[in-house]
Amino acid sequence: MVNYKELGLVNTKEMFQKAIEGKYAIPAFNFNNMEQMQAIVQAAVEAKSPVILQVSSGARKYANQTLLRYMAQGAVEYAKELGQANPQIALHLDHGDTFELCKSCVDMGFSSVMIDGSHHSYEDNIALTKKVVEYAHQFGVTVEGELGVLAGVEDEVSAEHHTYTQPEEVVDFVTRTGVDSLAISIGTSHGANKFTPAQCTRDENGILIPPPLRFDILEEIEVQLPGFPIVLHGSSSVPQDMVATINKYGGAMTDSIGIPEDQLRKAAASSVCKINIDSDGRIAMTSAIREFFALEPSKFDPRQYLGPARESLRKLYLHKIQDVLGCAGKAV
Ligand code: G3H
Ligand code: 13P
Ligand code: ZN
Repeated sequence: MVNYKELGLVNTKEMFQKAIEGKYAIPAFNFNNMEQMQAIVQAAVEAKSPVILQVSSGARKYANQTLLRYMAQGAVEYAKELGQANPQIALHLDHGDTFELCKSCVDMGFSSVMIDGSHHSYEDNIALTKKVVEYAHQFGVTVEGELGVLAGVEDEVSAEHHTYTQPEEVVDFVTRTGVDSLAISIGTSHGANKFTPAQCTRDENGILIPPPLRFDILEEIEVQLPGFPIVLHGSSSVPQDMVATINKYGGAMTDSIGIPEDQLRKAAASSVCKINIDSDGRIAMTSAIREFFALEPSKFDPRQYLGPARESLRKLYLHKIQDVLGCAGKAV
């Protein structure tokens, strides 16, 4: 058993409070490997931003949860080495689906966990979430719950159809569970194909324009839960230039579309204080690697292609922090 404080990590309590007051959001970037972790820390230090390192069940299976935990501990030391005297880094379990998984993360030094009971009945979601909160809070670990179901398909997270969060349920859910933050469903979804072409309109150049997020639902939730931290999952923007690079060099990403950045800017200025981004990082890495392989077919040292992939990630994260979420300079 190790407490996150011993690792130099922080929970999300203070970061979220400051984010709501300051009208910005904290990025939660998923990581599975060293290059992603390095790029996240490099960007966060350069922009003096708080950051949440996010680990999914799929990441735990791929990379081993012990290794990921030590990497997060290393991330704190790395941030200090890069010049950030007091790094504000949280280590968060993304989409925990059982009490046992959440407990295991709390016990090994995570500073925050999500218990995603959104696929259960309302009462079962409350019972499971409350159990996790009661355990995690003993150790100062913050807990994210979820109400409403996102559309989209991921390896470990799947929901064919979305159900928007019902604002009339949020007060009851938050009060009875004691969660520290609430993930809601207002039209975002996981992955790189967030909307079908049929759900979109087209501009004069034929470019797909996705339907807007349901800010009316978010506003109603803010009325019900004033000043309470809200989380947006499925918030990648799916950069079209990177998708084009992937496809130019042999990829086959069709009809890929994400959440426009201006909508994320608007969300970040509201009580949304954590914005989850995974797919954009995958796309940034893949576009850099595909381009390298196509242009440098004789090269075979992984550092030669993982290096540019890491640099592409760093630039992407910096852009999110500085130009979209508004959290640059908030970790001083
Ligand atoms: O919300 C899901 C995240 O993008 C994690 O995806 O389960 O494939 O690691 P993953
Ligand atoms: P994206 O697939 O839009 O990056 O969403 C990631 C996410 O919500 C992780 O929990
Ligand atoms: Zn998610």
